[in-house]
Amino acid sequence: MAQYDVIVIGSGPGGYVAAIRCAQLGLKTACVEGRETLGGTCLNVGCIPSKALLHASHQLHEAEHNFAKMGLKGKSPSVDWNQMLAYKDDVIGQNTKGIEFLFKKNKIDWIKGWGSIPEAGRVKVGDDVHEARNIIVASGSEASSLPGVEIDEKVVVTSTGALELSKIPKKMIVIGAGVIGLELGSVYSRLGTEVQVIEFLDAITPGMDGEVQKAFQKLLQKQGLGFTMGAAVQKVDATKTKAKVTYKLRKDDSEHVMDADVVLVSTGRRPYTDGLGLDALGIEMSQRGQIKTDAHWQTNVKGIYAIGDCIDGPMLAHKAEDEGMACAEVIAGKHGHVNYGVIPGVIYTHPEVANVGQTEEQLKEAGRNYKVGKFSFMGNGRAKANFAADGFVKILADKDSDRILGAHIIGPMAGDLIHEICVAMEFGASAEDLALTCHAHPTYSEAVREAALACGDGAIHM
Ligand code: NAI
Repeated sequence: MAQYDVIVIGSGPGGYVAAIRCAQLGLKTACVEGRETLGGTCLNVGCIPSKALLHASHQLHEAEHNFAKMGLKGKSPSVDWNQMLAYKDDVIGQNTKGIEFLFKKNKIDWIKGWGSIPEAGRVKVGDDVHEARNIIVASGSEASSLPGVEIDEKVVVTSTGALELSKIPKKMIVIGAGVIGLELGSVYSRLGTEVQVIEFLDAITPGMDGEVQKAFQKLLQKQGLGFTMGAAVQKVDATKTKAKVTYKLRKDDSEHVMDADVVLVSTGRRPYTDGLGLDALGIEMSQRGQIKTDAHWQTNVKGIYAIGDCIDGPMLAHKAEDEGMACAEVIAGKHGHVNYGVIPGVIYTHPEVANVGQTEEQLKEAGRNYKVGKFSFMGNGRAKANFAADGFVKILADKDSDRILGAHIIGPMAGDLIHEICVAMEFGASAEDLALTCHAHPTYSEAVREAALACGDGAIHM
């Protein structure tokens, strides 16, 4: 029986990062993974492959819409779908092999197979039982469907099936206007698919700043995505090649039917803990199926920890990574910490949408005295040159102390721009601190500075 300081179950961004940090801190570490490749949902069927398709389809959009304006003439490229999928698979392969390399470099054993925990201190994989002083459960999440909707991953798909459709559909219905639906809906819309989004609520991307929600929906509509809002999907009837979605409008309870070649079900994800044996161990779970942990990611059973999508909090790869590192540090006797108030969220559409900290609605509800600094990308020279002037930066700061409380960006490279504000927030900076920092010209980042200036005496280019 092998003996380890730590066995991590699951090799997604939470698990593999935890394993690497454990090894770096001198702990003998193994990671159990049942997939054929490391990296979990994110690298295999999530964040990374979807970004490859977003990139490829955006290039097509640029060629079709902006090349001629810049004097780049010629026939627009046509889509070779199989090649696009091959490119996506190659990107996946490079990334998953990269984790394998990092495991070897850090002397982490990859135990291949699906793990369970027969008792604290032991992990069973197949017929083998491995001993570990500490176990980190990083088993992730899975797509959750709706009652009356059967997923076949061909006609009625989750994000997994949507990343490997046999052909580009003529019409796609997306159920749920959240992150997955809008990212993948954008991909297919740019590839020529008619995309109709059906959303239960009256606004897209729940939890996001209201002003951004409205601007984002308008931009997506301008790009050709259709939205049916306030509609509860009742059922999906599918054949081998077509599907009918039945939904009810919440305002008058009227029933409607919409047809499509493919239906993407993107109505959220739920923690995945099947087969781990947590019930028998008496590990406390929340009503939503999340593993309950204390402030140091330890469950109610000593020596068993949990991180990432299978515990409370936003289901984001980078939140899982931070927890993985912090949990490893706690196990090694250090002081691991995650600042849950400064976790950015990004939607990788074009334009991108990014946020950190509080929304205006949350500040209002909390009765906070705040001010808003806003700057449109229309006033940013670089954005204009790059046909990327849609959107704005909005910074929310405390009215008295000027401390930054939140930021919301819709615009070019928003997912990168947000980090300047994350760092500022980590240091408890004021909007003036950002405004007084010299920003190179011409960059998109100047829009962040201008929004910070707008929290004070005013933006210059507005
Ligand atoms: P989501 O929770 O973001 O959005 C689901 C949407 O479906 C909501 O707007 C909800 O109101 C709607 N909905 C639920 N039931 C419905 C019904 N019966 N009819 C119509 N609409 C209905 O879920 P999504 O997009 O599936 O993403 C799952 C998780 O994956 C999220 O936690 C997300 O943060 C994460 N993720 C993050 C990414 C990123 O950070 N870029 C990319 C992909 C996923």
